[in-house]
Amino acid sequence: MSQQFWKPGSEKPRILEDEEGGVVFFGPPLSSAASSSSRFGYASIGSQRQRLPVYKYRTAILYLVETHATTIIVGETGSGKTTQIPQYLKEAGWADGGRVIACTQPRRLAVQTVASRVAEEMDVKLGEEVGYAIRFEDVTNPAATMIKFLTDGVLLREIMNDPLLTKYSVIMVDEAHERSISTDILLGLLKKIQRRRPELRLIISSATIEAKSMSDFFQTSKKHRGPEDHDFVPRKVPAILSVEGRGFNVHIHYVVEPVSDYVQATVSTVLSIHDQEPAGDILVFLTGQDDIDAAIRLLAEEAHASRKISSGLIVLPLYSSLPRADQDLVFSPTPRGKRKVVISTNIAETSLTLEGVVYVVDSGFSKQQFYNPISDIENLVVAPISKASARQRAGRAGRVRPGKCYRLYTEEYFVNEMSSVGIPEMQRSKLVSCVIQLKALGIDNILGFDWPASPPPEAMIRALEVLYSLGVLDDDAKLTSPVGFQAAEIPLDPMISKMILSSNQLGCSDEIITIAAILSIQSIWVSGRGVQKELDEAKLRFAAAEGDHVTFLNVYKGFLQSGKSSQWCHKNYMNYQAMKKVIEIREQLRRTALRLGIVLKSCEGDMLAVRKAVTAGFFANASRLEAFSHNGMYKTVRGSQEVYIHPSSVLFRVNPKWVIYHSLVSTDRQYMRNVMTVDPSWLTEAAPHFFQHQRRPDPIVH
Ligand code: CDP
Ligand code: MG
Repeated sequence: MSQQFWKPGSEKPRILEDEEGGVVFFGPPLSSAASSSSRFGYASIGSQRQRLPVYKYRTAILYLVETHATTIIVGETGSGKTTQIPQYLKEAGWADGGRVIACTQPRRLAVQTVASRVAEEMDVKLGEEVGYAIRFEDVTNPAATMIKFLTDGVLLREIMNDPLLTKYSVIMVDEAHERSISTDILLGLLKKIQRRRPELRLIISSATIEAKSMSDFFQTSKKHRGPEDHDFVPRKVPAILSVEGRGFNVHIHYVVEPVSDYVQATVSTVLSIHDQEPAGDILVFLTGQDDIDAAIRLLAEEAHASRKISSGLIVLPLYSSLPRADQDLVFSPTPRGKRKVVISTNIAETSLTLEGVVYVVDSGFSKQQFYNPISDIENLVVAPISKASARQRAGRAGRVRPGKCYRLYTEEYFVNEMSSVGIPEMQRSKLVSCVIQLKALGIDNILGFDWPASPPPEAMIRALEVLYSLGVLDDDAKLTSPVGFQAAEIPLDPMISKMILSSNQLGCSDEIITIAAILSIQSIWVSGRGVQKELDEAKLRFAAAEGDHVTFLNVYKGFLQSGKSSQWCHKNYMNYQAMKKVIEIREQLRRTALRLGIVLKSCEGDMLAVRKAVTAGFFANASRLEAFSHNGMYKTVRGSQEVYIHPSSVLFRVNPKWVIYHSLVSTDRQYMRNVMTVDPSWLTEAAPHFFQHQRRPDPIVH
């Protein structure tokens, strides 16, 4: 076999078996590993590659992958797992004969940066031997790509077209400790696929993982083992390999008193580090684009006010929707005599490695998804991180030399109150997308599926109920034909998919695809801080009485009429990068729609059709203005939750009687984002079953 790199007479790696004869552990790194290296080195980057901790385990990793169906690799962030292991596999022949090595990541930004780094190390053009795929962006060449980085979500979609993932020889599920919903589904499915494809190799890798529980997951079967299990060639018991890090000590500082404003506390801490500590970059962990932007502004103001420390600081944001050029700045080396301050979401916790960081400032928070199946409300909220995350964040300070981590919480809080590990996303998310995907993969008994962590049954039931009302599932909880199968083909929330499918009958698919593309990105407007008044005025130029969805159509039309001009965007407080992304996504959706037999058709200004199509997808997100409300309070039709129109909506303060919204955000209250007026009779028309146990929408008042 081509991947057989083992030479007769060469020293075998030392394997230590545990007392059950099960889990395999490796002892110290092998001395023989280094000697075989030169053959694989790449000119200038070669020695850099060989200095990475994972390099010492190269032989061991290849041996384990060859002899075990599943190998679990645990190693500190920056040890070289993501960038090196796929290259080792390629060098050992796992990509010969047109086969592909896959490496999945939960985050899109990580997929892109890691792929370009590996292409650079191999001195090839990105998109050829080394490629990547994220939703709406495929930078691979099927004839040439040997190493493919992709999000776990994209790999899940690939299973729909190729249930056994036949083109892959090895699949590395990276960042498994993140326990994203897609990672968990993927692990369950890969375990099934492996039973049918004994030659497929899996690598589960992460920075911190309960290796034993992951190993247990892969060796136990929920059902009785079928006959196909017997002709398994490689060892079924997963191997576990722990890669020694080379991290330096990190001194932890806690605050004495709890801080009330972590953005402010961050800024003060950064400035005092810059004032008092020797050279070395600073990495700050905040929660999202909004507080990162706020911190950067505050930092600029305060640094300006205190002249003596204003020089030498280069402050850069890092979050997933950052434009490409800004990403490059973050990863480029700090000029001499300067100090870089990177203010990041938890993307820099394990997914990305920043060189030169000596100081870490940890706010103690991150943005996390929470779902309440009773109220059916899903929220992205700022929540305390776990001890495991806190340790990861601190570890980022010790890569180049001993570092310091400033935790903006008390030691008492860390020891006594912080939970030790986070909750898997599966157990705190809405499962509508997850259920439709599994159904499309032919997994009918979803509750009986072999999950690494079981989802809450209430959330499952809610998801089934919504999919049933959308007409995606039938009475037997099977995908309907054609709606269910078509909805599953569209890589978007099933509510959006349904909206697109309905637009075909209503003759407004051209408009609805535009709306779907805009709803898929965070915001088309520039961040409102400091320019709120101007932004509001700009919005008024496009505002439609029907609400945000129709407003989007006006914006899109204006953008096209301007010749997709960046100046036009600037003048109208619109985010040019976001608009370019909208055009790209729209084009992808147009192609997907075409595959489903939907040819774009415009309704030529018939907004009633557009609104009905939106309602067909989003009837479940309906709410009604409280009769005697003076402050714009709405109650959701399902669940009677108190909600308000978000200030960013064109319907803010307009407060129409009946609305449907796209999503909720929670700050001091629950706010509805992207809101549209509806006629209540459309709701019962769109989904009679869904509303039958509810207070009947009153068709007279609207
Ligand atoms: O996956 P893991 O955290 O173990 O490490 P990695 O991402 O493979 O990173 C290994 C090394 O490559 C680190 O020293 C990074 O600094 C470097 N690297 C880089 O310079 N630029 C990138 N875009 C990615 C990694
Ligand atoms: Mg990695």
